Amino acid sequence: VKKSDVVRAILPLHLRKEPAQAQGLAFAPTNIALVKYWGKRNTELNLAYTSSLSIALPDQGALTKVNLHEGKQDQVVLNGNEIANNTEFFKRIAEFLNLFRFQSAWHFNIDIQMNIPVAAGLASSACGFASLTLALKDLFAWPLRFQELSILARLGSGSAARSLWQGFVEWHSGASADGMDSYAEPLTATWPSLCVAILAFSDQAKPISSREAMQATVNSSALYQCWVQKATHDLALLKQAIHNQQFPLFGGTAESNALNMHATMLSSWPPICYFLPATLAAMHEIWSLRQQGLELYFTEDAGPNLKLLFLEKDASAVKQHFPQIEVLRVFE
Ligand code: PMV
Repeated sequence: VKKSDVVRAILPLHLRKEPAQAQGLAFAPTNIALVKYWGKRNTELNLAYTSSLSIALPDQGALTKVNLHEGKQDQVVLNGNEIANNTEFFKRIAEFLNLFRFQSAWHFNIDIQMNIPVAAGLASSACGFASLTLALKDLFAWPLRFQELSILARLGSGSAARSLWQGFVEWHSGASADGMDSYAEPLTATWPSLCVAILAFSDQAKPISSREAMQATVNSSALYQCWVQKATHDLALLKQAIHNQQFPLFGGTAESNALNMHATMLSSWPPICYFLPATLAAMHEIWSLRQQGLELYFTEDAGPNLKLLFLEKDASAVKQHFPQIEVLRVFE
């Protein structure tokens, strides 16, 4: 099964036609996985081995404009700067756009405004491909359901499947070969006192992309099967913690899941390590604060930065220890 087969199944012939308006525009929030997606059962379609669960950051993400233009090739502008066509970023977007180039003479103009650091493990590909998918839906006026849009966004980047909604979102790994049962859905639960903060140590591009790193982990880590079991178990625990609003179970499950993901990566060969010395120092500080009674937990993605998880009642104490952070209330 190819990406183009999936697009044809979702967009029948009568929908693969001219834009309905001059420009499409859409915002998608970035998301932080609390139970991570790490490893693909199908690398062409970005089908995950395990289901995952994330939370959206309401005001942080990507705003994308898309239109067809007269030029001879696609044009991609990120935060006001034109992206060279030999970069990985350009190639990934152009490859995604090929799926929607219903006439070979079409060229797209994409303008993305992102208010998060790109490629530093802050899920820029998630909100980037999600907002591009929604902007294309707007441009072509496709009458699609969010489930189908989630499948299309997944073809750009796995984590993008989860970036179409605010709040808690679960991506079902699915089991079918064509991935038609592999899409995300929002949970109805909210948690108004829940806070998140990004503890950033570096906005540099990561040494190895999540795409390459997860494949290397699947291929070389002796712990990969343990990760699959752990992630499956964590998902059930996290949903229970959200349902009952049990914060220590919630934070503990997310933190343990992230550490297990990184341990699995470390056990790959050659080893994959996203920690910087500052990342480890901050982990020790968090563990020591927790021993002193502060309900503070972290998660970490494919980059050196930590994302802190805590409740509103502890926001000022957390801010005192980490003055550089901005406290984000995810359900405002
Ligand atoms: O979809 P990608 O290639 O951006 O991979 C995302 C990987 C993690 O952020 C580490 C985990 C996740 O579930 O978002």
